[in-house]
Amino acid sequence: MPKLFDVYMQAIKEGAEHGVTSADIRICLAHILKYSTQIEVLLHKDEQFDECYQPVFSHYLKQLEMGVPVEYVINEATFLGHKLYVDNTVLIPRMETEELVANISERILDYYDPRNYLVCADIGTGSGCIAIALKALFPNWVMLASDLSLSSLSIAKKNAEANGTKITFYDGPSLTPYIQNNIALDIIVSNPPYITDLSRVQSSVKNHEPSNALYLDPAHSVYEDVFRDIGKVKKNSLLVCLEIDDNLVDYLNGLMDKFLTPNYRYKKEYLKDLNGFVRFLFLFLE
Ligand SMILES: C[S@@+](CC[C@H](N)C(=O)[O-])C[C@H]1O[C@@H](n2cnc3c(N)ncnc32)[C@H](O)[C@@H]1O
Repeated sequence: MPKLFDVYMQAIKEGAEHGVTSADIRICLAHILKYSTQIEVLLHKDEQFDECYQPVFSHYLKQLEMGVPVEYVINEATFLGHKLYVDNTVLIPRMETEELVANISERILDYYDPRNYLVCADIGTGSGCIAIALKALFPNWVMLASDLSLSSLSIAKKNAEANGTKITFYDGPSLTPYIQNNIALDIIVSNPPYITDLSRVQSSVKNHEPSNALYLDPAHSVYEDVFRDIGKVKKNSLLVCLEIDDNLVDYLNGLMDKFLTPNYRYKKEYLKDLNGFVRFLFLFLE
């Protein structure tokens, strides 16, 4: 029986020519061996690697060599400590979106008493990551989540259950499910499809992640839908927290001038992510 370290080193050697990283190999080995972190692969390096694991490890390596993101290979992603099932029908949750949730939890006191019974909707929930993390942080909030994609919704439902969070899910575009169900909201949060510049998209994303989660469709932009219909779901006030691309600032300002300025008093704030890019729009309507 080979040692774990030898199996690991052999995989690094074979994977290198296909651009497979040692971190991804450790993630796969850790997943197979049920370690909680990839570093444990190194801590257990002198142990034997049971041959019964070899077929699944070879299968994982083949997928990595084809450029499949490691989260899809092991069907697992982590979001703010929550383990989520993911496959290629949902977007892999990103670090920037973790920052979106962190920004909400840091800034919520500027707008509301978070101990209150607040109704929050996550539009375009995908894997359910935002709604699950927010519900875990603020258990007294009523958490609603929606998506156009039925396969995303079934994954989000399973993830919510697996993480012990109570979320009510709706299918339908943008604000439509909330309008149809006469639901008034205190908070809207969304990481909608926002890519407009395909040249900035890595090939592993382009080839493997769902296009309906990635690209902004100017004819059916979630941003435009939300700004246009906001009056139909707004309670006394409404906080809107959006993830955006930095090249959308003019477009979003134009939408707010058109749909919000004539009708509401509102305060807007663009926030940067940790990489220094404008990444979030927080909007508070009174
Ligand atoms: C960028 S992904 C975000 C997924 C998840 N919230 C996250 O942050 O990882 C966008 C999601 O919005 C959904 N979507 C796209 N257009 C939509 C629309 N008009 N209404 C509701 N959901 C939409 C897609 O199916 C996809 O799940």
